[in-house]
Amino acid sequence: MTQPPDPHPRQKASATLAGDQPAQSAEIRRGLEGVVAGDTAISDVDGQRCQLIYRGYPIDALAGRASYEEVSYLLLYGALPTRSQLADWSRELASRRILDPPLPAILQQLPPHADPMALLRSAVSLLGLYDPKAEEESLEAVRRKAVTVIASTPTIVATLWRLRTGGRALPPKSGLSHAANFLWMLLGTEPTEQQASALDAYFTLLADHGFNASTFTARTVTGTKADYYSAIVAAIGSLKGPLHGAANRKAMEMLLEIGTAEQVEPYVQRMLTDHKRFMGFGHRVYKGEDPRAKHLKRIAHALGQASGEMKWFAISERLQEVVWEAKRLSINVDFYSASLLHYLGIPTELFTTMFACARMAGWSAHVIEQAGDNRLIRPLARYVGPHNLPFVPLEHRAPS
Ligand code: ACO
Repeated sequence: MTQPPDPHPRQKASATLAGDQPAQSAEIRRGLEGVVAGDTAISDVDGQRCQLIYRGYPIDALAGRASYEEVSYLLLYGALPTRSQLADWSRELASRRILDPPLPAILQQLPPHADPMALLRSAVSLLGLYDPKAEEESLEAVRRKAVTVIASTPTIVATLWRLRTGGRALPPKSGLSHAANFLWMLLGTEPTEQQASALDAYFTLLADHGFNASTFTARTVTGTKADYYSAIVAAIGSLKGPLHGAANRKAMEMLLEIGTAEQVEPYVQRMLTDHKRFMGFGHRVYKGEDPRAKHLKRIAHALGQASGEMKWFAISERLQEVVWEAKRLSINVDFYSASLLHYLGIPTELFTTMFACARMAGWSAHVIEQAGDNRLIRPLARYVGPHNLPFVPLEHRAPS
């Protein structure tokens, strides 16, 4: 009797294409590792030198100096705004921060205890459903949609959390920055200047990052000429995974599980014995430390000092040392994001939605760039299943 094909054939690290690949053979790179899939002028992720550049500016020059409002403008328009451009852009964002009806009423109907990333994914999809111009493709129309999504995502996240915890949704406050407004809408108290600028720097540092999985997803969807909202919703789905955006949440859960700096070494030993992954460590592109990590570490340290509770920072720092000694693994962006967001009073469950809020600017810029010079993204696959199986009519098929 014929056996069904193995659904998970063993993959080799690389192989030669045959079949529908004409004439020349090509190497298969699992996970597209090392493959350059296109041009971009938005950000440069230099894995060898461990540098990140937004539109020509090293991230080190922007961190703590340019606000998220400035950086989102830079990513979308290609240049840092002048004072008057920034004032207009900030006003535009402020005007789109309030959710239009019927969204607030619909958010109340969503299952409050669902995963926050699943809720955000659904809410952004709803933004598209109620946008009468959702299908408009012009650059102006896409930029207008991007403003709505960048501005309203923090409002959506804060509203959903307050509904989940039995509170009343708070409208945004005029005069507060993008980051400060989020903390106000979530926690119901205006943040200190230090807290607001810490979240602002977090948003800035995570605003874009080359062809990472979620951005590439957004570009792939845009490549089919589907609408802006479809691309952003797909990107949110991609970011939700623990090998990508959810690593910040998992990193915090790891710190909570460890509990004290003294417990770091036994914890690392257990993880090594069980062959488990350390969340917030390792990176596909950076060969050393993620250039965003030192900024996040500095900010987390300052927040810890201000809160009078250095424990989470101390556990993180010890873990960074012990994992480096044991495995020569460097930290990535998600590692100190965990203690930073925790010190700001943001619930662990919301951490990945914070990443999404930051990345809205980058995703939007990539949708615009892809649409501006589009070519359908459609790679080949090497078929590894059987060939020429004899067809067996239904009545003659036996269970295998
Ligand atoms: N903990 C333990 N071992 C690790 C880790 C880690 N975090 N990262 C890599 N390794 C080890 C792997 O076990 C593997 O060892 P092996 O060859 O002996 O099996 C080796 O390093 C190479 O790992 P790969 O998975 O092949 O590397 P890849 O480039 O595919 O992985 C990734 C990159 C997914 C980020 C990985 O480092 C990881 O799983 N990290 C933890 C999750 C995480 O922090 N994700 C966030 C990444 S940044 C971002 O998306 C925003």
